[in-house]
Amino acid sequence: MREFREWGHKLADWVADYVESPEQHAVLASIRPNDIIQALPAGGPVQGEPMERIFSDFEKIILPGVTHWNHPNFLAYFANTSAPPAILAEFLAAALNTNGILWKTSPAVTELEVVCVRWLLAWMGLPGDWFGILFDTASISTLHALAAARVYVAPQTRDEGAPNNLIVYCSDQAHSSVEKGAMALGFGRKQVRRIPCDPVDFRLRPADLQAAIDADRAAGLLPCCVVATVGSTSTTSVDPVPAIAEIAEREHIWLHVDAAYAGSAAVAPEFHWLMEGCERAHSMVFNPHKWMMVPVDCSVLFSSRPDILRQAFSLLPEYLKTSDDGLNLMDYGIPLGRRFRALKLWFTMRYYGRDGIAAMIRDQVAMLQELRAKMEADSRFEICAPSPLSVVCFRLQGEDGPNRELLERINADGRFFLSHTVLNGRFVLRVAVGNLLTTRETLAGLWDLVCGLVLSI
Ligand SMILES: Cc1ncc(COP(=O)(O)O)c(C=O)c1O
Repeated sequence: MREFREWGHKLADWVADYVESPEQHAVLASIRPNDIIQALPAGGPVQGEPMERIFSDFEKIILPGVTHWNHPNFLAYFANTSAPPAILAEFLAAALNTNGILWKTSPAVTELEVVCVRWLLAWMGLPGDWFGILFDTASISTLHALAAARVYVAPQTRDEGAPNNLIVYCSDQAHSSVEKGAMALGFGRKQVRRIPCDPVDFRLRPADLQAAIDADRAAGLLPCCVVATVGSTSTTSVDPVPAIAEIAEREHIWLHVDAAYAGSAAVAPEFHWLMEGCERAHSMVFNPHKWMMVPVDCSVLFSSRPDILRQAFSLLPEYLKTSDDGLNLMDYGIPLGRRFRALKLWFTMRYYGRDGIAAMIRDQVAMLQELRAKMEADSRFEICAPSPLSVVCFRLQGEDGPNRELLERINADGRFFLSHTVLNGRFVLRVAVGNLLTTRETLAGLWDLVCGLVLSI
């Protein structure tokens, strides 16, 4: 334990320095594919090694291969933050090494999850009696929602397998996890309707959804689930959930809302509108690891129909029977093992409070809007989508080639990391703000770089 104490103190200092100024590292990893694999021995050590050697290799070999999501200049995908209190909670969670397979195997794991879910529902203005469960990723949460949808529409699925005529609907802006979940569950890609969005605001058009459902019913198929997106991956567009809910109710199909990124924003009163109509959903996913400062991984699946989730997933072998009446979260999903994710969520929610999280979101949206205004005022650029939250999609007027070159040169400069998407068939650059250390100065620096590069493209 002497060695653990010594290294514990050393690493606490290392982590504090890192979290305080991740910009001491380049935002992008500096290695080529396979460098780390080649730098490390092909076989694991036969004898144990001292911590000095392990940590030295961490600094020399592993760290150069890290892309620093904690860096304020990380503006790609959905930028995120690993909050210091949550890092401490992860340390505790690893030490406790609980496995919440049942309530009895560590009651705190289950009960803290229940408490955090209740707090989140209240903060986001969602029905307080909803059920919620933590998974690793939104992809897995959505897979569970699709499995529940199947049982909702075809209850025989649990025992007999699913009928082969079930159809899932989402927009062409929905995240690929919807299609992947459907594939994994055996729907087959041809049973997923990706309905083209409005080409200006990138939102699903309810009339098109209704038409697709009508056509499928006329062809003898069985509409099963519609996935609405609140905060789409490319543009953060928000589907018209109230109108979609209306259709889902009329058609008796499951409504799942993917709010993986934008759900966190609903904590701020001025963004409660994001949840309009979501109270009518059967399930909804959002990831505190995207925009609520909780380190990866942490995804919440809410559901107004836990009975259906239970019907889809509960199975009780003899060796898991207990005599207590505690809640067993294994009954609501695939994983049996359950790590103590709620601990980092609880630490984060308590440390910042609702108002602290809302202030972070508000500030990041405001600074993104200021950057967007600069882009709009510059006639060399065009804005390619509405920006309701903390992402802007932009491009140079004209062909794709110069835009691809611009992105490559921004990232090659080494100070910033941006990613791209394609909208209406055209290549588009994205700036996504989501890191607590990102400031107006960060974005001013990016804009200077972009304007400088454009002169030579
Ligand atoms: C809207 C949306 N849904 C789902 C996902 C998938 O998230 P995860 O990586 O947690 O599976 C993403 C990822 O960015 C997303 O943007």
